[in-house]
Amino acid sequence: MKVLIVGSGGREHAIAWKVAQSPKVEKIYCAPGNGGIAEYAECVPIGAMEFERLAEFAKDKEIDLTVIGMDDPLVGGIVDVFEREGLRVFGPRKNAAILEGSKAFSKDLMKKYNIPTAAYETFDSPKKALAYIETAKMPIVLKADGLALGKGVLICNTLEEAQAGVKTLMMDKQFGSAGDHIVIEEFMTGREVSVLSFVDGKTIKIMTSAQDHKRAKDGDQGLNTGGMGTFSPSPFYTEEVDKFCREHIYQATVDAMREEGREFKGIIFFGLMLTTDGPKVLEYNARFGDPETQVVLPRMKNDIVEVFEACIDGTLDQVELEFEDNAAVCVVLASDGYPESYKKGYLVYGLEKFKTMEGYYVFHAGTKRNEEGRIVTNGGRVLGVTATGKDLKEARANAYEAAGWIGFENKYMRHDIGKAIDEA
Ligand code: AMP
Ligand code: GLY
Repeated sequence: MKVLIVGSGGREHAIAWKVAQSPKVEKIYCAPGNGGIAEYAECVPIGAMEFERLAEFAKDKEIDLTVIGMDDPLVGGIVDVFEREGLRVFGPRKNAAILEGSKAFSKDLMKKYNIPTAAYETFDSPKKALAYIETAKMPIVLKADGLALGKGVLICNTLEEAQAGVKTLMMDKQFGSAGDHIVIEEFMTGREVSVLSFVDGKTIKIMTSAQDHKRAKDGDQGLNTGGMGTFSPSPFYTEEVDKFCREHIYQATVDAMREEGREFKGIIFFGLMLTTDGPKVLEYNARFGDPETQVVLPRMKNDIVEVFEACIDGTLDQVELEFEDNAAVCVVLASDGYPESYKKGYLVYGLEKFKTMEGYYVFHAGTKRNEEGRIVTNGGRVLGVTATGKDLKEARANAYEAAGWIGFENKYMRHDIGKAIDEA
């Protein structure tokens, strides 16, 4: 088989690595890819939003399966374009990717189908939003309806902050049309857990749990980022939590989408908060998490290509997902200054060692090859270093050891990824 992967981050590197292990696969392409993905895949310089060019490329190269890693092309309808051209593609159509693309849609869906989530109201006028927050209890959470690179969520502790937030989202349009509508919701407290799943329209199969660290600095301080590290499984995702989510959240979401005429095929990523009132949905994503994928896929035993195909063909009920009885931790190595300003173009040392060490992985997020063919930094998040271990403690020690094998100027990482497990 020939497989095309669309995307360019650590998540797509992990997907490419996993796809490369399938005995069914003879050739992988990645558009646009990055310096690390190039090891498994031929990278082609076509952007993820260039749907027609991508479909043309897929037809030209007789690609058997295309896997979409990123949210923007999914929400923009890349799957519809591929299907129209008779191409096999893994991911939700536009009318289903709205589960991630519109927070107002997903909140209304949860309300209609009694899926537990924070209480909320939606607004399309700043005047009404401002009137509402006058009487609301603080803290309160404001969310831009549309995609905003994970930055459209504002947690406001005071009325003044909330008023400024409405201005930022709806009047100054900091996130463009994503802020035409906003959701204002109740602030919840609790542990956050990420649960990824495969869905074939009817059947849902849950992968193992994971937890992300979104803030830039140790102790969950600093700005929100795309994710500074992850661990899997989450010790807070107990059997009791799992049972509740299976009864009230997972299948209920898939059934609700079908009921609405928006059959969902692909990945549903459940962002959950474990509150004292039980697990609630914080958000849905319509794709693999980044950097959750970098800890989940190294623990997965299945041939991922078979699972992708079962989702497309509607035969997921015949697949048993299997995960190693171990743990994994991913530490993101970033450029100092991320997520604000940082320099790029520094040589990266120490990558070779990973090739000889079992249970250690280095997934490239922002790298490229320079003119001499050497890997240099090319983004805020540069690499994700993942290691497995018999339990989380061992995996964490291994991941930090391996993070030390890598050198580049301005290297920055958090030192407390997975530390929360000590409290479990
Ligand atoms: P989202 O993109 O909706 O997942 O929000 C991003 C982050 O904001 C989440 O991972 C949470 O840490 C936080 N967050 C979102 N909604 C709430 C809420 N209702 N209460 C508390 N924190 C929230
Ligand atoms: N790690 C969170 C996300 O992928 O959205």
